[in-house]
Amino acid sequence: MSEVLIELPGSGVAIVRINRPEAHNALNAAVRAGLAKAFAELETNEEVRCVVLAGSEKVFAAGADIKAMAEASPAEMTNNGADHSWRVLREFSKPVIAAVNGWSLGGGCELAMHADIIIAGEGARFGQPEIKVGIIPGAGGTQRLTRAVGKFKAMKILLTGEAISAREAEAMGLVSEVVADEAVFERALALANVIAALPSIAARKIKELVLAGADLPLNAALSMERQAFWLMFDTVDQKEGMRAFIEKRSPVFTGK
Ligand code: HXC
Repeated sequence: MSEVLIELPGSGVAIVRINRPEAHNALNAAVRAGLAKAFAELETNEEVRCVVLAGSEKVFAAGADIKAMAEASPAEMTNNGADHSWRVLREFSKPVIAAVNGWSLGGGCELAMHADIIIAGEGARFGQPEIKVGIIPGAGGTQRLTRAVGKFKAMKILLTGEAISAREAEAMGLVSEVVADEAVFERALALANVIAALPSIAARKIKELVLAGADLPLNAALSMERQAFWLMFDTVDQKEGMRAFIEKRSPVFTGK
């Protein structure tokens, strides 16, 4: 059985599921490679317009595989391919919704933070416990978490290694929405279906602008947004969306 499963239920949605229950979905080389392969495939699959990234009903992912790296050297960590896997996720251009149940720790929390929307169950717990095993986050925990929740909340999570609840995560801006544990996947899927039915060029542009703009001075980011906004008027979906509004009918979007 593969450590990462892809399902294509149709309607432009793909589901990527981490499947390593015996180790709480710890991100070993096979899981990382599986994720990279899945997202590389989905990037070029024109049928796919939104992705749901899920773990199991009990755990999203408990972090990098501690047993696999306990005795590693810096050179081995450099050469283990992890950087490539994270790059594929980081550069994935389509919207990703993380469906988080249970533990989302260390690299698991960092994985969730690679998503664009995070739906969490009431019982989900987020944390960056790396400090407890003598390391620091290595896939964006010190950076993405701080950008998401601010310095003082991030420092507390990073320096103590203590996990926080889904409600706490929601209050500080780490989570988009908290729902009952049993409703997480369905809610994520429903949102994915909504997004996949909307103009896909616009969806990809929004993602690109939000992510790239965060690293730019405001004026440069606003200018980039303006250029992209004008470009939208060269899409078939813009003409269709606006004409449908004026003609009081439902639009038929084609992703062109
Ligand atoms: C390897 C792991 C693991 C991990 C759990 N397991 N997390 N194996 N790496 N990160 C394994 C356990 O060893 C155990 O296997 C099985 O999964 C079940 O775990 P338990 O500990 O028995 O479960 P439980 O008591 O319910 O506790 C759940 C838990 C705990 C709180 C999530 O497992 C835990 O604290 N895990 C480590 C979390 C962590 O420190 N993550 C950060 C890793 S560093 P066996 O065979 O013994 O039964 C990191 C760096 C990222 O992520 C850098 C960039 C990628």
